[in-house]
Amino acid sequence: STPESYKYNGITYPKDSYSNVPSSILDKLDRNLHLMPSHPISILRQIVENHFNDYKALIPSSAIVSVKQNFDELGFPLNHPGRSLTDSYYLNKEYMLRTHTSSHEIESYKKGLNKWLLSADVFRRDEIDSSHYPVFHQMEGTHIWLNSELNQLNELNKNLENQLKNIPIIIEDETKISNSNPFQSHHNPIYTEQIIKHLKNSLNSLIFKLFGHHTKSDGEPLRVRWIEAYFPFTTPSYEVEVFWQGEWLELLGCGVVMQKTLDQSGVSDKSGWAFGLGLERLSMVLFSIPDIRLFWTSDSRFLSQFKQGEITTFQPYSKFPPCYKDMSFWLPQTDENRHESTSSSAGGKTLNPMTSQKQFHENDYCEIVRDVVGDLIESVTLIDEFTHPKTNRKSKCYRLNYRHMDRNLSNEEVNELQNKVQARVVEEMGIEMR
Ligand code: PHE
Repeated sequence: STPESYKYNGITYPKDSYSNVPSSILDKLDRNLHLMPSHPISILRQIVENHFNDYKALIPSSAIVSVKQNFDELGFPLNHPGRSLTDSYYLNKEYMLRTHTSSHEIESYKKGLNKWLLSADVFRRDEIDSSHYPVFHQMEGTHIWLNSELNQLNELNKNLENQLKNIPIIIEDETKISNSNPFQSHHNPIYTEQIIKHLKNSLNSLIFKLFGHHTKSDGEPLRVRWIEAYFPFTTPSYEVEVFWQGEWLELLGCGVVMQKTLDQSGVSDKSGWAFGLGLERLSMVLFSIPDIRLFWTSDSRFLSQFKQGEITTFQPYSKFPPCYKDMSFWLPQTDENRHESTSSSAGGKTLNPMTSQKQFHENDYCEIVRDVVGDLIESVTLIDEFTHPKTNRKSKCYRLNYRHMDRNLSNEEVNELQNKVQARVVEEMGIEMR
């Protein structure tokens, strides 16, 4: 039987109808890839910390934060999709696994620090493919000033702009202030413009530091673009993307810190900027790491390739063959799609109340797959959908692609895993195999 509560670091979190953290995720809480010497995530963290060398580097103690810290205090509306059980991990109604490092902004401003970088693991329920994993790492960075010192910014910006001169980097920036991305009403727009400039100059110089050596080899200048964005805790807000192997890749979100955040931190007399950088995405590009699961391997053929302080190209070692299995099933009959009263197996009393009443959600399905199969699952892809013309019942077919990073998988063991997944999803999601 499942325990009534979660226990972590000696603290007990009683379970309730929100609880949705499987043990496979809890096991990841102590891994701390961002602190592991010579791990690409940690190498990248240190390179960014060295770049912003006068910023204080912070590491929060636990991945468990209150819903208040992660969402409420940052102004997320109650109906924000990020809050839903299909997207986030909850220990219970009050506590969750942080979904972003912004959940530590207020406590960090409270320390009285004006410039800091904070790195941590963050958790989001998601699909399964080579660039998505339910645990990843972010670095939050901020620079705030006493309002009475904002007149220094012009000078600071001149210095930064001088350093950026003569650098073969093309920055595409058509962002402008508009009603959809406004200044904060109490801010002096002249200073806010300087804050935005400082934010852009600071991040552009980091991007050049990280990508500079890549661009030299093919002679093409690096293209970076700034686009408008929306976050509840910054305005104006932006995203930075880099053009990489034919596509625009999102690197970070950022903006001018919302006054409400600073007020709650006891520093109403300050203003400035914040960013949140995704470390996996950036590592995959910089080190040429093809699959996000590799960050979690303990195989020395991976780990021994990297050296602290250096960005080197990953040399793939032999990949073992994949093995795929398809799974077709009927979705549970919900009131919406129930056409005629067929007695479906979805009405059983053993169903988990959190999953039986609501619509089928792919993240719930993927969660069960990960919980059973662990890192042997490489991707889960929807390959067919069908609605029965008479009963209106819907079915889906998913292809589960299995691959071990370090050895061959036998057909028998894959079948066994597939059967286990099948049994769990039937029991927990009220679906019926075809
Ligand atoms: N927390 C945001 C995210 O995870 C990124 C962000 C950080 C945006 C800081 C603005 C300021 O998407």
